[in-house]
Amino acid sequence: MSHADDHEGTRRDFLYYATAGAGAITAGAAIWPLVNQMNPSADVQALASIRVDVDGVEPGTQITVKWLGKPVFIRRRTAEEIEAARSVPLDDLIDKNAQNRNDMSLDASDQNRTLDEAGEWLVMIGVCTHLGCVPIGDGAGDFGGWFCPCHGSHYDRAGRIRKGPAPENLWIPVAEFADETTIKLG
Ligand code: FES
Repeated sequence: MSHADDHEGTRRDFLYYATAGAGAITAGAAIWPLVNQMNPSADVQALASIRVDVDGVEPGTQITVKWLGKPVFIRRRTAEEIEAARSVPLDDLIDKNAQNRNDMSLDASDQNRTLDEAGEWLVMIGVCTHLGCVPIGDGAGDFGGWFCPCHGSHYDRAGRIRKGPAPENLWIPVAEFADETTIKLG
């Protein structure tokens, strides 16, 4: 079979599936406008996943990157911060869910919120879960983590809500290490 035939075959297959798909769309026409509205546009899709170089982030510091229109805090914690965050009993927490978008069934133990097992890297959506302000970081608030001055929400060293009106821990986005010095968001 020549290369051209090969191509033709692929195209025919595509047309066949496209036709079958059209039938399915007709059947679901009533819900199409809603589904269509929820589909992100092409330019948003292009940014749905970004890579962040964290090579220069020293322990005890953090960077903020913008992703999908929101700030994302990437903190490299010190051994003391990790120890303090890991020693908090689950019972002391207001929100017992890790709010980890990689797995929403996890409880709010520090281990379930960090990117690596050792707990050095904490990646969070930097949006207060009360009404959406951007909390202040770097050891702010009564629990040494982040503080939202809008209405006084205090988050601990793992970004968990400990005091104030915010109902949920700061969200953990879908994230992973792409390599040793690169974090992939989305
Ligand atoms: S928006 Fe953060 S406390 Fe209200």
